[in-house]
Amino acid sequence: MPQLLAITGSPSVHSRTAVVADHVLRRLSHSGFDTAHLAVRDLPAADLLSARRGEPEIRRALEAVAAADGVVIATPVYKASYTGLLKAFLDLLPQDGLVGKTVLPLVTGGSLAHVLTIDYALRPVLSALGARHVTAGRFVLDSSVERGAGPDRLRPETELDLFQAVDEFAGALLRTADSPANPIALTATP
Ligand SMILES: Cc1cc2nc3c(=O)[nH]c(=O)nc-3n(C[C@H](O)[C@H](O)[C@H](O)COP(=O)(O)O)c2cc1C
Repeated sequence: MPQLLAITGSPSVHSRTAVVADHVLRRLSHSGFDTAHLAVRDLPAADLLSARRGEPEIRRALEAVAAADGVVIATPVYKASYTGLLKAFLDLLPQDGLVGKTVLPLVTGGSLAHVLTIDYALRPVLSALGARHVTAGRFVLDSSVERGAGPDRLRPETELDLFQAVDEFAGALLRTADSPANPIALTATP
């Protein structure tokens, strides 16, 4: 079964980007994929900023990326680009760190003015790392992540659109990963 890793690059404790990524992972997990979530903010800051690739937590994170068949890269927009936190982690990857992997880019932001961050900022760095197939990503407005008494939720129309991107990503992954998983289940699972 293909391994999927979500890498989230928000420094926030209550990250809307992480909520979106977890939604995506739940969808993929229900479809039978092995999933994991790497929040870069949880890595030891000094090791991350000093590029200590050999330190245990950093090493494990890099190994998780290397082992993944598919990677969801999710970041908030900060100053019209992806976050410095995400970049600090991506800079630890080898130049061919995403070669052979299918990648789904996701961005959250406060304004639709920065909807092109996916294509102008994130996609180029993913290509530079050798991502073979970067599927159509999504920009999710932070106002679409609803917070209340219960668990954080996505607006239904946002969730629907997001799941469309997720299913395309899963389909692309299955086509390239030589997996026995049944793609029909991807559209059938809520
Ligand atoms: C330092 C900072 C810079 C931001 N810059 C932008 C920006 O340039 N464009 C935009 O649309 N939103 C911007 N935002 C809003 C965030 O992208 C948005 O609220 C996002 O959903 C936060 O995600 P998080 O909860 O995962 O951190 C910025 C927020 C912060 C804290």
